[in-house]
Amino acid sequence: MSGRVGFCCSRVKLFKLIAHRWAAIFIAFGAALAGCHNSKPAPMDPVERGRVLYATNCAVCHNPNPNLPGSLGPPIAGSPRALVEARVLHAAYPPGYKPKRTSHVMQPLPWLAPNIDQITAFLDAAAREHGIPAHR
Ligand code: HEC
Repeated sequence: MSGRVGFCCSRVKLFKLIAHRWAAIFIAFGAALAGCHNSKPAPMDPVERGRVLYATNCAVCHNPNPNLPGSLGPPIAGSPRALVEARVLHAAYPPGYKPKRTSHVMQPLPWLAPNIDQITAFLDAAAREHGIPAHR
């Protein structure tokens, strides 16, 4: 008989223990969710965004360091916005601009239309630092 009581009590204890654990997990989970809900993503620095866009879209032909010639493309650090826009959106040049190369290899990358400012910011920072701008 006493064995049965012991069994019964230990089951209750076990249940309490499990219930306790779950309560703790739910509280932690709820707190994490609340934390996610309240935190807004930090706005990304234009140079940092430009760096990522350059690395993924341009560095394959231009050098990873835009101050240097690449496998196909010329150095483009410090390129003015009008030049970046004309090249990236239309594979063209601004009126009166004398191209560094006479080839016509580069294709337009129109999906970058919303990011011309960020790419220009990265190329500008690279020209000022004579290298790849350091992470801030
Ligand atoms: C497929 C290879 C390739 C890719 C990708 C590429 N370029 Fe080019 N780019 C070139 C080549 C080659 C030239 C020289 C002109 C030509 O042949 O089209 C050039 C020229 C340029 C020029 C003009 C340089 C000058 O002053 O005459 C700019 C600015 C430029 N690219 C920016 C970019 C940017 C910004 C990206 C990425 C968003 C990019 N390019 C992606 C190959 C590429």
